[in-house]
Amino acid sequence: MDLSRIFRNNQEWIAEKLKTDADFFKNLSQGQNPNVLYIGCSDSRVTAEELMGTQPGEVFVHRNIANMVPNTDLSVMSVITYAVTHLKVNHVVVCGHYYCNGVKLAMASADMGVLNPWLRNIRDVFRLHKAELDAIVDEEAKYKRLVELNVQEQCVNIIKTSDVQKAYKDREFTVHGWVFDIHTGELIDLKIDFDKILNEIMEIYRII
Ligand code: CO
Repeated sequence: MDLSRIFRNNQEWIAEKLKTDADFFKNLSQGQNPNVLYIGCSDSRVTAEELMGTQPGEVFVHRNIANMVPNTDLSVMSVITYAVTHLKVNHVVVCGHYYCNGVKLAMASADMGVLNPWLRNIRDVFRLHKAELDAIVDEEAKYKRLVELNVQEQCVNIIKTSDVQKAYKDREFTVHGWVFDIHTGELIDLKIDFDKILNEIMEIYRII
């Protein structure tokens, strides 16, 4: 890829934006008021804003390998606190994707160096749901299900934070688990039943 193309694209993008709204960048410079925090995978095929059709200023975005929310990761935890408590978003989304290489690596025996502790979080998801996953014979179906269960457990990690527990008490606030299907381009709402899941574990994680 010729990097000079990126700067040409940027000039074209500026012209395109100004054609429809002469004040576009002036308005952007006034501040942001996003209503959604999106946590997704860094995978170059899963572009957050493009697949959602959202405009600059609408979605606060955090991406890392396999859309993880590790409890001790200062980066994702800071993003959650800033988005939920300061920007006051009403929705937090964890968006996984089928054929995620991070999830695939966690299903294999592979020494990935500094990535090992990161991927171990996904192995922990596998252990939590081992009975369900072991019952799936088809390898691709098992892989896809682990992607979904990983999204679910990262959503639960979000609900363990005090910022999110406060937001649930104070206002209309929802955590969502989605999956992007690279094969079709479709964004799928997993419609995770958090009430059912949290009923069983909230007595452990409630801190507010
Ligand atoms: Co991925």
